[in-house]
Amino acid sequence: MNNFYQLNLPVQLFKNFDHGDPPGWRARWGDVPPTRWEVARVSVTDYVNSQALSFLDNLGIKFQQESLLFYGPPGAKVFIHTDGDKSAGTDTWSEMSWGINYSWGSLDSDMIWYKPKEDTTVDLHYTAANNPYTLYTDDQVIEIERCKLVAPSIVRNDIPHRVINYDTVNPRWCISLRPVSEFKSWEAITLQIKDYLLNVSDLEFNCHAVR
Ligand SMILES: [Fe+2]
Repeated sequence: MNNFYQLNLPVQLFKNFDHGDPPGWRARWGDVPPTRWEVARVSVTDYVNSQALSFLDNLGIKFQQESLLFYGPPGAKVFIHTDGDKSAGTDTWSEMSWGINYSWGSLDSDMIWYKPKEDTTVDLHYTAANNPYTLYTDDQVIEIERCKLVAPSIVRNDIPHRVINYDTVNPRWCISLRPVSEFKSWEAITLQIKDYLLNVSDLEFNCHAVR
């Protein structure tokens, strides 16, 4: 089971928006240091075609009206984390378990997934967009996969992961559509959308699993 699949939908998911700095956000975040990774909520319809939302809706896949907009400053490395609250040792589903991501700006970045080592304890935190997440230190995890998101992709968020922006000039912008209540697990959503995923072997150039 991979933690990432590039989408191959019969309709164009994202609008042909200007792939520069989203209006207003660079002014707000442009000076944050590379130790920060910013996030805010923006309207899905600003970025996504309504035909694509209808297509996914017909598959039973529905999204929140607001998506997440991430800003990774040049050279930034987000902390290793799991989206959602795993601090109580429960496996409570949250809107954060998976997302459909699309990034631009940075010319070189990786999304990386990890396996926690045995007996790892984690702390609960909240993002600026009020999403719970749990943090890991580098020595609490083992890398299992990394990918370059070069096109709209479905990504797993309920295991430890991070993004590194290797581009020291350009920020990494990312829109992440988050689901409502159906298809809570990674297994369930990737099964439901399996006819519209690119084969992993097509992606060897951009991805590799660490075994
Ligand atoms: Fe995340």
